[in-house]
Amino acid sequence: MSRALICAGNWKMNKNPAEAMAFADELSKACTADEAKSLVLFPPALCISSLTGSLATKSIRLGGQNCHWQPSGAYTGENSAEVLKSMGVTHCLVGHSERRQYFSETNEMMARKVKLLQSLDLMPVLCIGETLEERESGETKQVLERQLHVGLSESVDGKGLWLAYEPVWAIGTGKVATPEQVAEIHLFIRAWLKQNKPEFAASPILYGGSVKPENAKGLASIQDVDGFLVGGASLEVSSFLGILRASVG
Ligand code: PGA
Repeated sequence: MSRALICAGNWKMNKNPAEAMAFADELSKACTADEAKSLVLFPPALCISSLTGSLATKSIRLGGQNCHWQPSGAYTGENSAEVLKSMGVTHCLVGHSERRQYFSETNEMMARKVKLLQSLDLMPVLCIGETLEERESGETKQVLERQLHVGLSESVDGKGLWLAYEPVWAIGTGKVATPEQVAEIHLFIRAWLKQNKPEFAASPILYGGSVKPENAKGLASIQDVDGFLVGGASLEVSSFLGILRASVG
């Protein structure tokens, strides 16, 4: 495929700093300089400082898994986007379904986070996706539309944006969406952007949900799939790089 594919690894709450460093060393040795340009790692915040050195040797980018919508203040336990930036982070997930599900994060919070990240010149990776119930009751597109409409309601013109479509029922379940389902939704998201947020119409749209080396090639050939947000399979260098290699091979 001609377009550059993105392979983003979301480690969630896995790995300690020593394990993270071992992974980064192995990854930087195993990937080519060209492959490195496609990779972004989203480690737990506590591991970020241990990763910057080894990843920088290959220019592999680093992302935060979450941030608060204020740059600093009395928000016990939260991560500051400004501090993430000062540590060399270039991207940050916003609204991962686990944040929405377990921490009651709302679309309004997403909007504020997108605005802060963009104003700091960090790349927000806005995650959207429907639950199984929503899909089965035929509400998928309304849910996505609301997540986009509210989530991007405070976006800053002229700044970057990535989106990740992650059907909640496909995350960590081994149940990958079918190529037809992925194609339909990515096309829908692209059309929504063109119509409602033309400044972001060319933004990369990643697919996430049980992506593995075995299914990456088929998914990567779908129009408007610009890369992947990988959870479980990003925890091992072989499967993480395997996804990238299968996608472009
Ligand atoms: P998974 O997770 O690849 O383990 O399904 C994806 C994600 O939650 O970003």
